[in-house]
Amino acid sequence: MLKVDFCGIRLKNPTRLASGILGVTAQSLIRVARSGAGAVTMKSVGPKEREGHNNPTVIDLECGLLNAVGLPTPGYKNMEEEMEELKELKKLDVPLIGSVYGTTVGEFVEVAQWLCDHRPSAIELDMSCPNAEWGGSVFAHSAEVAKELVEKVKNVSGKIPVIAKLSPNTHLINEVGIACEEAGADALCAINTLSAMSINIEAKRPVLHFKRGGLSGPALKPVAVRCIYDLFEHVSIPIIGEGGCTSGRDAIEFLQAGATVVGVGSAVRYEGIELFGKICDEMKKWIKQNGYTNVKQLVGIAHENG
Ligand SMILES: Cc1cc2nc3c(=O)[nH]c(=O)nc-3n(C[C@H](O)[C@H](O)[C@H](O)COP(=O)(O)O)c2cc1C
Repeated sequence: MLKVDFCGIRLKNPTRLASGILGVTAQSLIRVARSGAGAVTMKSVGPKEREGHNNPTVIDLECGLLNAVGLPTPGYKNMEEEMEELKELKKLDVPLIGSVYGTTVGEFVEVAQWLCDHRPSAIELDMSCPNAEWGGSVFAHSAEVAKELVEKVKNVSGKIPVIAKLSPNTHLINEVGIACEEAGADALCAINTLSAMSINIEAKRPVLHFKRGGLSGPALKPVAVRCIYDLFEHVSIPIIGEGGCTSGRDAIEFLQAGATVVGVGSAVRYEGIELFGKICDEMKKWIKQNGYTNVKQLVGIAHENG
């Protein structure tokens, strides 16, 4: 009932662990895979060792999370041990999605090439992180830049599907999505975090050390639904819907907007890895109660009645 095909990869259910949440060590990814996620995503790997931003880097807001972790990474050259461990995931039959970033198109290509040599099920381009000092999301703010990035990564990725992770911090998300598809992207992810800020009014200064951060969790969900809905009308490649999913009902909403797969990130921090099983049970219940037999029947159906 929940099985989906995503870029030729078979998922036992449409949920995936979003990048950057529990995806730092092989062991934590294996735990999430065992807990029932349909696929898991690694924390984004960058070109060189980098510590990320100073604390505070993650704060809880009433409506979600605000983070400016700043893409800490051991750098791909120091990742060999982790990659050996990650081979265990293949035994678990849960697809592993690798994630890469760079500060230039050339760096993206360099890290993507290394990652593809380790044969993940797919790679995702974190071209939309709003919390990096080089303007990490600029790769997803211009159709031309996004096209160049995807084209160059596709030149080195061989048969491994490439997912372009899009930014809500631009009014050009549809144009960027179309450009990625034209450049050969196999799928899109909508969306990364929304640029945001919180101020401590007693201290009279921004709470995060980096000042601005990315908003995730429940507050992001309606923005994600709108982006998925719009993209579905402009592209034919599959979409990973992501941003604020906390329940089976949220996941169904993403599917109806046009997602094939649903990413879950911040909610795992609050509810633990059991959340994946819970989301799947709720989805099954909804599907049965509403007279459907298969999750695939739901993809994009909100467009028929809109
Ligand atoms: C603490 C934290 C770290 C993140 N790190 C990454 C990352 O390394 N790469 C990436 O592509 N997205 C990263 N994200 C974004 C998430 O993958 C996800 O797209 C976003 O949080 C929206 O989903 P959610 O509301 O379910 O968390 C991070 C998010 C958070 C909260």
